Amino acid sequence: MSSKFAPWALRSASRAIRRSVPQQPRRTFQVSSTMRSESLGVHRDTPDNNPSIPFKFNETNERLIEEVLSRYPSQYKKAAVMPLLDLGQRQHGFTSISVMNEVARVLEMPPMRVYEVATFYTMYNRNPVGRFHVQCCTTTPCMLRGSDGIMKAIEEHLKIHHGETTPDKMFTFTEVECLGACVNAPMVQINDDYFEDLTPETIKSLLTSMKDAAEKTGAGGMASGLPGDYGKADVDGQASGRPMKLGGPGYAAQGASIPAPGPLSKRTSCETASGLTNLTSEPITGEQMLRKDGEL
Ligand code: FES
Repeated sequence: MSSKFAPWALRSASRAIRRSVPQQPRRTFQVSSTMRSESLGVHRDTPDNNPSIPFKFNETNERLIEEVLSRYPSQYKKAAVMPLLDLGQRQHGFTSISVMNEVARVLEMPPMRVYEVATFYTMYNRNPVGRFHVQCCTTTPCMLRGSDGIMKAIEEHLKIHHGETTPDKMFTFTEVECLGACVNAPMVQINDDYFEDLTPETIKSLLTSMKDAAEKTGAGGMASGLPGDYGKADVDGQASGRPMKLGGPGYAAQGASIPAPGPLSKRTSCETASGLTNLTSEPITGEQMLRKDGEL
């Protein structure tokens, strides 16, 4: 009898103790909705991107690599992994598995360490991108100033969703987080350049002018994603296996023109959009700065 009674007594006692201890308020856990990334975090072999495709840095980049490596003690040369990946991407057009393996070989580090870096930073494109890589920022400051409208305008104009490339391989469209130009929101990065203070109209005309310029100069879109097959000439006049180089004060040739990077509004930089609101008087000069009573 006592052996049957004991477990019941223990359970009752423990319940009574639990009731007497003040209960913590119940916590609710919030889980943000799952967002599908623009690209897989893992590598899958494809005809354009597999380890059997050879990759070697060209002479120009080999010289640059020497220069970069000279900045680090030889036992820490793996610290140069990011600039080398960038050089590889610029030469090859995207950061393929062969580019990553070559960087690992040059820096004498395990390939997995290079993959870890390349998959963490979104500026390394691990799949081919079009001649123009349009990255639209949708983080809060850009969102508050109309990035939803910019995204919609790009989708309507290019007839693709973010994460996709146009069939002619001219444009790849990506949605990205803050690119650090919030004061000129909303903005996009196209290849290496920022275009800011956008409206749905200005982004559409920008994309039209880029396509126009590429077609008139024969730069074309990326045909297959393979180096040397990106079109006839870059906008700076050189054949290359990388996205088209813009930059500088805008581009105009052969009846095509691309506006200069920066704000596509009346602003020239990041000054107040409504004009000066303080420091509007003439600055005081030497004489005025001295006290009249002769004291310093
Ligand atoms: S939020 Fe868009 S650039 Fe910072």
